[in-house]
Amino acid sequence: MKKVFVKPNLTLFDLSSNEPLFSPKEVLEGLLESEKRLSSKFFYDQVGSDLFQKITELPEYYLTNSEIEILHNNLEEISDLVGENAAVIEFGSGPPLKSRMLMKAIKPSLYLPLDISKSYLLEASKRLAREFSWLQIRAICVDYTRAFQLPFDPEKKRVGCFLGSSLGNFNKSKALDFLIRTKKFLGHGGELLLGVDMKKSAEILDLAYNDSEGITARFNLNILDHINQLCAARFDPANFVHLAGYDENLGCVQMHLVSEVDQKISVLDTEISFSKGEKIHTEDSYKYSCKEIEGLALQAGFSKSVSWFDNKKYFGLFYFS
Ligand SMILES: C[S@@+](CC[C@H](N)C(=O)[O-])C[C@H]1O[C@@H](n2cnc3c(N)ncnc32)[C@H](O)[C@@H]1O
Repeated sequence: MKKVFVKPNLTLFDLSSNEPLFSPKEVLEGLLESEKRLSSKFFYDQVGSDLFQKITELPEYYLTNSEIEILHNNLEEISDLVGENAAVIEFGSGPPLKSRMLMKAIKPSLYLPLDISKSYLLEASKRLAREFSWLQIRAICVDYTRAFQLPFDPEKKRVGCFLGSSLGNFNKSKALDFLIRTKKFLGHGGELLLGVDMKKSAEILDLAYNDSEGITARFNLNILDHINQLCAARFDPANFVHLAGYDENLGCVQMHLVSEVDQKISVLDTEISFSKGEKIHTEDSYKYSCKEIEGLALQAGFSKSVSWFDNKKYFGLFYFS
């Protein structure tokens, strides 16, 4: 683990020095499966994180604005639930807009943003450290899908935040595993603020992942540039197209890259063949009903306390204790 003192109130703990967060071997294994796939974590190099921030500003991508609306209307109640002197641990912190709202209202004694995208995490944390000079920030670069321990004990009530419906990137059984691990990680008295995208019409969901400016398509295709750098591969993004759509039976928006031509790409000295029309699966975004998400959290050992929704009931924020 590498520890860097960035500012008097900001320290960066880089857990990638223990084990690389983006492993070329993992890329190859996914591409050698009969249905080719890449983990959605590979979206998030610096370019991918910048593109994700642009996505959050798109009118079609209602998720961010709906969650902001919920936070805006309920910050006082959330802050009362969290209480004083807590350590707020944000999984996949990403753009600092919502974190800023939470820090302002909750005023925790410690904020721990956790993210896999190191340079983006550092920049976002620096901005927050400048803005909230009273706040101790310990940013942790980590893959939250792996078991890990904090490199120190905050000795405070731990409140986890998992916003932006990132839980939806796991299938139901992996989501349950994540919640079970998180419950243990938060420890006795720990609580969780969980943002979840609710089930809705395919029309709204399809638009959200196929914006008219093509930013989501660029975000999806950027995974190939990231893989090229990681694995000395030669994917040409121009030979693939973005595909995203809601599968009502699965309750999931699935994102793929589709090969436009027959092609062979060398990845880590292994030749991978693509036929025209063949897909690489890049992301799942599962949507939930209230019953489903509350059932999953109860199964993981949490008990429900409060939930809030935006005006259109597109998005839900759940507080589990
Ligand atoms: C969909 S964005 C959500 C960002 C933010 N929470 C929000 O609500 O806008 C997912 C974030 O999680 C991070 N991330 C994705 N996979 C991760 C992983 N396996 N471990 C740690 N961070 C991850 C990404 O870098 C990105 O910042």
